[in-house]
Amino acid sequence: KRLVVLVSGSGTNLQALLDAITETGVEAYGAEIVAVGADRAGIEGLARAERAGLPTFVTRVKDFETREEWDAALAEAVAAHEPDLVVSAGFMKIVGKEFLARFGGRFVNTHPALLPSFPGAHGVRDALAYGARVTGCTVHFVDDGVDTGPIIAQGVVEVRDEDDEDALHERIKEVERRLLVEVVGRLARNGYRIEGRKVVIQ
Ligand code: GRF
Repeated sequence: KRLVVLVSGSGTNLQALLDAITETGVEAYGAEIVAVGADRAGIEGLARAERAGLPTFVTRVKDFETREEWDAALAEAVAAHEPDLVVSAGFMKIVGKEFLARFGGRFVNTHPALLPSFPGAHGVRDALAYGARVTGCTVHFVDDGVDTGPIIAQGVVEVRDEDDEDALHERIKEVERRLLVEVVGRLARNGYRIEGRKVVIQ
């Protein structure tokens, strides 16, 4: 299976996928990353892709007149690599109708909180501020909402009294990277069905 991964930052989730595929082998893992895209240039996530010898692309919102044109351009840039599965690994933009029309049902996102709790761009900060005693991460299919699509898998992380946002996020990311590698491999190898809010992996 062909994966396109979208990033906006450090790309440690991307790196976890790259390392897993290198260690396991494309055949055994069931997928290979064919390209990495971003909404901004000069980020570590793109440097990781370049170090791995992968094609990269940057589709910036400010380069387009309207959000819809950006969305269509992003969809085009992704489609050019003929992915079976698109993975948002810290991609911080909300995609629109055009993108979902083409990749809905095969577009996976990872979020650093236990959805439906604490959706949005500050899930770690919000869980901490709320006083949650456990939080975690969620891998889900992207639908037309924000972090509202069918949940595939979740991992639980304890919140510690001495945690600040960065410390908690780092601990979440340790679980998140393992969860994403495991889920993407299973989706690619086994195939899956989405039945309403349920995801059934064969
Ligand atoms: C991840 O925790 C992701 O869930 C969140 O931002 C972080 C991205 O980390 N949206 P990285 O870029 O994969 O290191």
